[in-house]
Amino acid sequence: MNETDESIRVAVRERYASAALSVSSQGASCCSGAAPDLGVGEGFGSTFYSVDDTGALPAAAVLASLGCGNPTALATLAPGEVVLDLGSGGGIDVLLSARRVGPTGKVYGLDMTAEMIELARMNQAEAQVTNAEFLLGTIESIPLADESVDVIISNCVINLAADKDVVLAEAFRVLKPGGRLAISDVVLQRALPEDLRGLMLLWTGCIAGALVIDDYEAKLAAAGFVDASVTPTLVHDRDAIERLATGVTFPEGIEPARVYAEYDGAVANAFIRASRPR
Ligand SMILES: C[S@@+](CC[C@H](N)C(=O)[O-])C[C@H]1O[C@@H](n2cnc3c(N)ncnc32)[C@H](O)[C@@H]1O
Repeated sequence: MNETDESIRVAVRERYASAALSVSSQGASCCSGAAPDLGVGEGFGSTFYSVDDTGALPAAAVLASLGCGNPTALATLAPGEVVLDLGSGGGIDVLLSARRVGPTGKVYGLDMTAEMIELARMNQAEAQVTNAEFLLGTIESIPLADESVDVIISNCVINLAADKDVVLAEAFRVLKPGGRLAISDVVLQRALPEDLRGLMLLWTGCIAGALVIDDYEAKLAAAGFVDASVTPTLVHDRDAIERLATGVTFPEGIEPARVYAEYDGAVANAFIRASRPR
């Protein structure tokens, strides 16, 4: 891993450790009334889930939801299947999937941020889910055997990875032949100037590291996946980008107005589907 990739990983881990701690401390102090500000804008979080889904989960699992869609609605999970959630955060998608695959199935949540894994395990205990396991590790080096997983889900994580090719190759490796990928992620509908992609706070906020749709599809094909599709579900306009960039100090020479104009309508939440051939 080169220095830039390592600095991305450190910044991403810092941001999500702090989000996990805000949720845990809110839980510990209890009933403070206001939800913690996790620095996500509209179009992110638990709004993509039905009340039936969220109502049955621990409050902290819902509060910690930082996704950009609902991959559990996209993946048609069957009883007995093995599921892996890449970047499982506070565990919302793992806990929902565990219910769908039932006692004969198993769901793994993988996350590199120790504070998120701790929060997810607390949520698992509270939800009394026994067919799930949270693993501390990176999605660039998945700690599972080849061809051991039926379905990979992920929610707003792959955009954060410095090297998407490595992540997709790992996903392909652990999927069984015929296995499915069902992902929610942020994508770009057009390319952006290179100097705007290196803005770390926009990267850790799930924007600057997003792939252009055609590149996403090309990378899925290069990793060996078939039947790949990337479908935008919600486009972020200038106001949304401005809200997401709240608190970002732009480097000298980068005008915020130019950033907002360039990103306006370029960033979208999307569903990504693909399969490993049989
Ligand atoms: C935007 S949050 C989404 C969390 C969760 N999927 C959800 O929907 O609430 C991103 C999560 O991905 C994790 N993450 C980011 N990059 C990762 C990597 N390279 N390997 C493992 N986990 C990663 C972060 O620690 C964080 O918990």
